[in-house]
Amino acid sequence: MIDIRQLAGLEGVPNKVFDTLVMGRGTYEPALDVPTTSPYSRLRQYIVSSTLTIDDPTVQVETGDPIELIRRLKAEDTGMDIYLRGGGRLAASLLPEIDEIILTSYPVVAGTGISMFSGQFHPTLFTPARRESFDNGTQVTWLTRA
Ligand SMILES: NC(=O)c1ccc[n+]([C@@H]2O[C@H](COP(=O)([O-])OP(=O)(O)OC[C@H]3O[C@@H](n4cnc5c(N)ncnc54)[C@H](OP(=O)(O)O)[C@@H]3O)[C@@H](O)[C@H]2O)c1
Repeated sequence: MIDIRQLAGLEGVPNKVFDTLVMGRGTYEPALDVPTTSPYSRLRQYIVSSTLTIDDPTVQVETGDPIELIRRLKAEDTGMDIYLRGGGRLAASLLPEIDEIILTSYPVVAGTGISMFSGQFHPTLFTPARRESFDNGTQVTWLTRA
């Protein structure tokens, strides 16, 4: 089974920041073409979908309200964070529960793409807490909820 961490040469490296991952069906489905049903096998994987059927015990398909899922996972308090992998539709639904955004920007104009948040117009303030810049123009910014 192909795993993202294996592809990145990080096989066997323990979890440091998060131990749980949540993503929408649109973000998960490209993994099936790889093919793998468990792209982040070192994490607890939750896929939000009302239509997906996956026969893999390492992947949990959540059919209910994703806000309730996140509140349940936060209450479990494993000591590690929950990684919202995307996509834009799920992120928009989960905006009230997002505590931090880690934003990577590149000096490239793509011309089109998927919105980070594809929901209703709903300005929500975040505060830049830290930024790292790289010689190739890439920037990573950590934003916390204001
Ligand atoms: N650049 C990046 O870092 C990045 C990160 C993540 C994703 N992406 C890209 O973004 C695209 C996918 O994003 P997307 O916005 O189209 O899709 P998405 O949010 O990943 O998934 C949408 C699907 O998730 C389920 N879902 C989402 N919100 C729900 C809710 N509130 N209640 C119930 N079900 C919900 C639904 O599945 P059902 O229809 O089965 O119910 C919905 O069709 C992909 O192309 C991916 O590669 C890019």
